[in-house]
Amino acid sequence: SAAEKGGYEYFMLKEIVEQPQAVADTLLGRVGVDGTLTLDEMRLAPSELREIEKIVIIACGTSYHAGLIAKYAIEHWCRVPCEVEVASEFRYRDPILNRQTMVIAISQSGESMDTLMAVRYAREQRARVLAICNVNGSTIPRESDGVLYTHAGPEVGVAATKTFLTQLVACYLIGLYLAQVRNTKFGDEVNAVIAQLARMPEQVQKVLGTVGPVRELARSLSGAGTVLFLGRHVGYPVALEGALKLKELAYMHAEAFAAGELKHGPIALIEDGLPVVVVVPSPEGRGVLHDKIVSNIQEIRARGARTIVIAEEGDESVRPYADELIGIPAVPTLLQPIISSIPMQVFACELALAKGNDVDQPRNLAKSVTVE
Ligand code: AGP
Repeated sequence: SAAEKGGYEYFMLKEIVEQPQAVADTLLGRVGVDGTLTLDEMRLAPSELREIEKIVIIACGTSYHAGLIAKYAIEHWCRVPCEVEVASEFRYRDPILNRQTMVIAISQSGESMDTLMAVRYAREQRARVLAICNVNGSTIPRESDGVLYTHAGPEVGVAATKTFLTQLVACYLIGLYLAQVRNTKFGDEVNAVIAQLARMPEQVQKVLGTVGPVRELARSLSGAGTVLFLGRHVGYPVALEGALKLKELAYMHAEAFAAGELKHGPIALIEDGLPVVVVVPSPEGRGVLHDKIVSNIQEIRARGARTIVIAEEGDESVRPYADELIGIPAVPTLLQPIISSIPMQVFACELALAKGNDVDQPRNLAKSVTVE
């Protein structure tokens, strides 16, 4: 009913605007005023966490994209090798697991059969399994050694939005906690990031206040045959997620590439008028990557692409090559996906609505996939 949807026409629209609260709820009670993290429900003692030699993240779809982002953060902050794998591939290739492996299973529903089977397999191999999940008491957390719930509240729309953002928050919390427990040399950076993470609800709110032009842009593209997405570093999984959302909701062909791969093939796809969405890393910190992606934007624009650029507010270097510029607040590079995913969600949702699609119940899809 309209009341359940909080006055919105679709749950998805409501769930997108609930994201500042969802992110706040995931952080609630876990970040102390002095930056100490409390993740007791993980049920993995600091001594166990210090023994971990490898992390393997398994998930499907959007949750897999959260895992890809987590890898960048975890390896940087914790200096523990981290692999990410699509759950449906995992147990069929004889992966190397042991007691010193921590498997993180990310599933908003806690019921994806592919992920569940991978969890069972990992436990049989004696790995420690930690679930990141949004549904209390669902199967995957019940079968795991520990769990970090995302507390995003029920998500009805089939397309993951607030559960994705909160999965990212949960992944960051785990990475930062591990770094604290293992005392890596990134202590100062870790503390600074924790402070920034605590401010994410405000930043998410800020972005939501500025997405009006993204809606108009999406409507103007409803006739496009294909949309490409480019990113680097954590922007690459954000690009993958942007493309997945467009497929799911707008039933459009969309593909994402790591921007550095363009010259190895995909640049041949660029033709006059082709919309290309580019996620630009912050000019701070990742300066080299930033400049490389700016030249990628130049290259594709010179070949006719219509460039839709998501970049930090005040980053004037991209303006000359951006047909459309979407500004986002400046946050630490590794946290940028929490912010840069939002225009992607709005873009796909609005484009789908312009096509007359039901964004809550896209064709052929189910909220949780309980078959392998
Ligand atoms: C996301 O928009 C999709 N509905 C889908 O890719 C989803 O993320 C995937 O099926 C995994 O679901 P889970 O997180 O519940 O395991």
